[in-house]
Amino acid sequence: MDKILDELKKELKEIKDLSKLNELKAKYLGKKGSISELSSKLKDMAAEEKKTFGSVLNKIKTDATNLLDEARSKIEEENLNKKLENESIDITLPSTKIPAGSPSILEKVVEEVEELLISMGYDVIDGPEIEEDKYNFEMLNIPKGHPARDAQDTFYLKNEEILLRSQTSPVQVRVMLEGKGKKPIRIICPGKTYRRDNDDATHSHQFMQIEGLLIDRKVSLSDLKGTFDVIAKKLFGEDTETRFRPSYYQFTEPSVEMDISCHHCDGKGCSICKNTGWITVSGAGMVHPNVLKNCGYDPKEWQGFAFGFGAERLAMVKYNIDDLRVFYTNDIREMRSFDRKEAE
Ligand code: DAH
Repeated sequence: MDKILDELKKELKEIKDLSKLNELKAKYLGKKGSISELSSKLKDMAAEEKKTFGSVLNKIKTDATNLLDEARSKIEEENLNKKLENESIDITLPSTKIPAGSPSILEKVVEEVEELLISMGYDVIDGPEIEEDKYNFEMLNIPKGHPARDAQDTFYLKNEEILLRSQTSPVQVRVMLEGKGKKPIRIICPGKTYRRDNDDATHSHQFMQIEGLLIDRKVSLSDLKGTFDVIAKKLFGEDTETRFRPSYYQFTEPSVEMDISCHHCDGKGCSICKNTGWITVSGAGMVHPNVLKNCGYDPKEWQGFAFGFGAERLAMVKYNIDDLRVFYTNDIREMRSFDRKEAE
């Protein structure tokens, strides 16, 4: 029996891979292996002899199994080491160049407005895109059946009470209700809005507005003008001029359109400003007394102004883009061209 183990040891020394090891295991411990064959002698032995022979046989089985297991671990370890060596990464190799992405210019314009208004004491807040008719229209002085609703062809959900907000103005209502008629307010709310428009160069069923609201005591239209002036100069350059044109919104009185001087032709007239020298970028006005009242603010004590920029419009004017759809088609070539435009 010692001879068998010596032989196994000798053979193990030669073995370098697992399949050979398995063959060897079969040769010794398999059904027809040499150790199993020894067991067959047991049946011809006397009881006493059987006992001694049996225990030696068991020992040899255990020893052989241990030897084979040891050899297996050794081979596995060697294999692993070889693999690790082959797969090691040379960190001194030059890297592959991955082109860097950058934020969309629409997002950049919004951030620019945010940063500026934060520095003027405004908070940036969010509102729900799925809104109640009450906030989107009614509390803003636009009752059911009012023709002003037609201009904002709205996506209604389920029934006439829940909708995709057609403007960010409902956020004004929500914030004023929270102020409970006691606190001054300075907020902007940039966010997505939705209308049942057919998509073309200047319309999109989903677009972005930046709503602004300031409520305080002794606020006048000149405060709005001053604020707009600062925003316009920051976004379009120091020599940008601004003007108000009379307009009409249900939730402001008086209402205005806010224009900037065309920085492409310096006011001389070009295709971008349709030869007027001016470009409209926002609707605005003094918060209507009815809206203040609806939201718990006493119009005799409080006044405020509000404005609503079209974010795409701002980006289009700033970067000279003539088709609004480019913001949403995500064509990487277009996006890169914006980066170039910005660098210029
Ligand atoms: N919500 C208006 C729209 O979508 C834009 C607007 C006009 C917002 C005047 C205002 C405002 O806050 O005062 O057309």
